[in-house]
Amino acid sequence: MNLTELNRVATAMVAPGKGILAADESSGTIKKRFDAIGVESTESNRRDYREMLFRSREAMSRYISGVILYDETIWQDAKDGTPLVKLIETSGAIPGIKVDEGTQALPMCPGETITVGLDKLADRLKKYYERGARFAKWRAVIDIGSGIPSMTAISVNAHALARYAALCQAAQIVPIVEPEVLMDGDHDIDRCYEVTSRVLNKTFQELRVQRVALEGIVLKPNMAISGKKCPSQASVAEVAEKTIRLLKACVPAAVPGIAFLSGGQSDEEATAHLNAMHQLGPLPWGLTFSYGRALQAAPQKAWSGRPENVTAGQNAFSHRARMNGLASKGEWQS
Ligand code: 13P
Repeated sequence: MNLTELNRVATAMVAPGKGILAADESSGTIKKRFDAIGVESTESNRRDYREMLFRSREAMSRYISGVILYDETIWQDAKDGTPLVKLIETSGAIPGIKVDEGTQALPMCPGETITVGLDKLADRLKKYYERGARFAKWRAVIDIGSGIPSMTAISVNAHALARYAALCQAAQIVPIVEPEVLMDGDHDIDRCYEVTSRVLNKTFQELRVQRVALEGIVLKPNMAISGKKCPSQASVAEVAEKTIRLLKACVPAAVPGIAFLSGGQSDEEATAHLNAMHQLGPLPWGLTFSYGRALQAAPQKAWSGRPENVTAGQNAFSHRARMNGLASKGEWQS
């Protein structure tokens, strides 16, 4: 393992003014997104859509540091035969790959899940590296509800995240460590804070036990935020203040960068929250976005599966990327 190189890649992923495009929707998830805009989820439509994003010159060259791909996409070629990975590299962004294989019910823990995909992961990482991937992603999912999360779910998911991260570093790939506490539910921001704190502490404990070099990872957490159905919604200032307090308490300064998921926030909320956090600096790590929905909802709508809308889709994507790029420096204005 070359830690200097892992650290260089991780630092580039969170460079000021740039962030990560999470375009790693599984076939099931992208079908849901396409259903919403009336587009059939065929392999060629998925290719055309993602090619449109990766050919958005302004967004990709100025505001996107890296792109998380799904297995299908990393092997796909653009219409003219250029591998999609090459389009990303040519734009100056770093290709990455989602390597978890989704969640399964966790035995003895009703309503909770464990993320799977560790078997043969070392072999898969080797092939992804050869194809150009320099970072990977694994998402653990923790749900808040009555009586959950259990310590069992937090513990086994943290253990799997650390197993994945160690395998990535051994393969010279930067692991994005993503323990997502969902914002579904009616819990308030303080309950989200408390659960996320337990999850992050357990995750870093496991990373240490399994000898993962913190200088060579990127953390992808949720923000401290009110549940979607909570009657009292925390303000932008409160989300920013509590998220930064939480991260300072739980994330060692050796970690080069933190890149948030959007998790169902509206496009503008996700931008406003990141921007407000940068008003609270200086911060010990790079702090940016790794958004899926908050970067893609607008371009999906503008494109709607029609070739004549490709420019409109690219413009919508570039706009959101630029807004989030500004927010990653605290320079965004509503
Ligand atoms: P969202 O920003 O849509 O939550 O997606 C980011 C992601 O990669 C979740 O795993």
